[in-house]
Amino acid sequence: MKTIILFSLAFIFTANSAPVPAPVLDTKGKNLRAGVKYRVKPEDGDGYIGGLSLVEVRNMSCPAVVGQAPGLDKGLWLTFTPVNPKERLIRLSTDVNIKFSGSNSCNESNVWQLKYHEAMKQYAVIVGGVEGNPGPKTLNNWFKIEKGKYNDSYKFVFCPSVCSDCKVMCGDINTFLTNDSEGQPLVLSNDTYWPFSVVFY
Ligand SMILES: *[C@@H]1O[C@H](CO)[C@@H](O)[C@H](O)[C@H]1NC(C)=O
Ligand SMILES: *[C@@H]1O[C@H](CO)[C@@H](O)[C@H](O)[C@H]1NC(C)=O
Ligand SMILES: *[C@@H]1O[C@H](CO)[C@@H](O)[C@H](O)[C@H]1NC(C)=O
Ligand SMILES: *[C@@H]1O[C@H](CO)[C@@H](O)[C@H](O)[C@H]1NC(C)=O
Ligand SMILES: *[C@@H]1O[C@H](CO)[C@@H](O)[C@H](O)[C@H]1NC(C)=O
Repeated sequence: MKTIILFSLAFIFTANSAPVPAPVLDTKGKNLRAGVKYRVKPEDGDGYIGGLSLVEVRNMSCPAVVGQAPGLDKGLWLTFTPVNPKERLIRLSTDVNIKFSGSNSCNESNVWQLKYHEAMKQYAVIVGGVEGNPGPKTLNNWFKIEKGKYNDSYKFVFCPSVCSDCKVMCGDINTFLTNDSEGQPLVLSNDTYWPFSVVFY
């Protein structure tokens, strides 16, 4: 009898809670973990095989723009911090802060944010963001990881869920082709033709 009651309770509990999204996996098939350092590289090294780093746009080193480094540059280490401080894994479609290790030359934090970049006339991923405090004031600092074009790849998405009343402009994060940058900046754009698919390692 006891087992039946326990079983029923467990069933009700599971039925009531929203399904937990699957964890994001690294290239070895291991769960991505909060606070652990990873590097990001494009899934299909189609000539541009650089990892994610800070790139110069129009010879301006500041604001420091997040982008795909040129050539063989493996890029910078970064860490993910989930919106739920108790969550130890990085899960698909959930809000995370992303932060490069080390510092930059712009006297800014190394936390990613989405911000309008005047010279590019694009919403670009630049550093100088803030971590934590989910809500309307920190909206631009939250990103999500979704499944990429191929099964084992992922993509970055801007579509924060940290503010239920906010009107949010959602979109994928893709590389922006410029003729005057070292590397390719990341911007908000739905590039379905050549999406920026990445893996973590
Ligand atoms: C960037 O700097 C290089 C070398 O200093 C110069 O040749 C080039 O014209 C500059 N480009 C722009 C867009 O200012
Ligand atoms: C760097 O930023 C801090 C805090 O934002 C400020 O107090 C400091 O004066 C800045 N330093 C320089 C060299 O701009
Ligand atoms: C992706 O996964 C689905 C379901 O597991 C499978 O049918 C499909 O062939 C896979 N596609 C690629 C490109 O690996
Ligand atoms: C990207 O596509 C989504 C879904 O179709 C749409 O809601 C969003 O407005 C698009 N964003 C941009 C920046 O084009
Ligand atoms: C780079 O692109 C800009 C704007 O698209 C254009 O005005 C400029 O002539 C281009 N420069 C080169 C060197 O192709």
